[in-house]
Amino acid sequence: MSSENVVWHNHKVCKQSRAEQKKQKPCVFWFTGLSGSGKSTIAGALEQRLFEMGHHTYLLDGDNVRHGLNKDLGFSDEDRVENIRRIGEMSKLFADSGLLVLSAFISPFRADRQMVRELMDDGEFVEVFMDTPLEECERRDPKGLYKKARKGEIRNFTGIDSAYEKPESPEITLNTAVQTVEEAVDQMIDYLLTHQIIK
Ligand code: PPS
Repeated sequence: MSSENVVWHNHKVCKQSRAEQKKQKPCVFWFTGLSGSGKSTIAGALEQRLFEMGHHTYLLDGDNVRHGLNKDLGFSDEDRVENIRRIGEMSKLFADSGLLVLSAFISPFRADRQMVRELMDDGEFVEVFMDTPLEECERRDPKGLYKKARKGEIRNFTGIDSAYEKPESPEITLNTAVQTVEEAVDQMIDYLLTHQIIK
């Protein structure tokens, strides 16, 4: 569908002024990794820490978004591309509202993560790679999905019969097989302070 006759409106209050009120810069933290790698756990713990510090955040999470906005999508390659496209646009809107956005999705394809990066202004996309090995994710199997995938009861399961393309140069790499939740959150808070995303 064309947007040729649709005109963009610039608003008087911009994202920088919204964010400055909260002593933060708008930014999307994009958590990518296998199912069970700790994306939601770390994003949730980070959100809690930022909230306690007085920052304004919003957490977008795979399972939740797939219950609402994206409930029409499955796990074919095509649907995953559309899933990430919509979430990218949604993350951009939340960042425009001045928030620190924590987006936690498997987002298995490099090209899609790159597409979201390009949607954002410079420095406002931070890729967080959950580098927890498949063996550890499968050992945890918190939802019993790996077991079902191994038995062939679920098809196109990431890491089993659907690809996961690792990030080549993520801003942050975490591995919850060797780091505690606290250590991973500390590493992220260090990054936010060093890059002056929060004061
Ligand atoms: S994706 O690949 O980015 O579009 O996936 P995402 O929106 O993050 O959704 C991942 C969650 O869906 C559940 N689930 C599956 N994951 C991967 N492959 C298949 N086939 C699948 N079927 C269901 C699973 O609970 C994922 O949640 P997480 O939090 O990653 O474990």
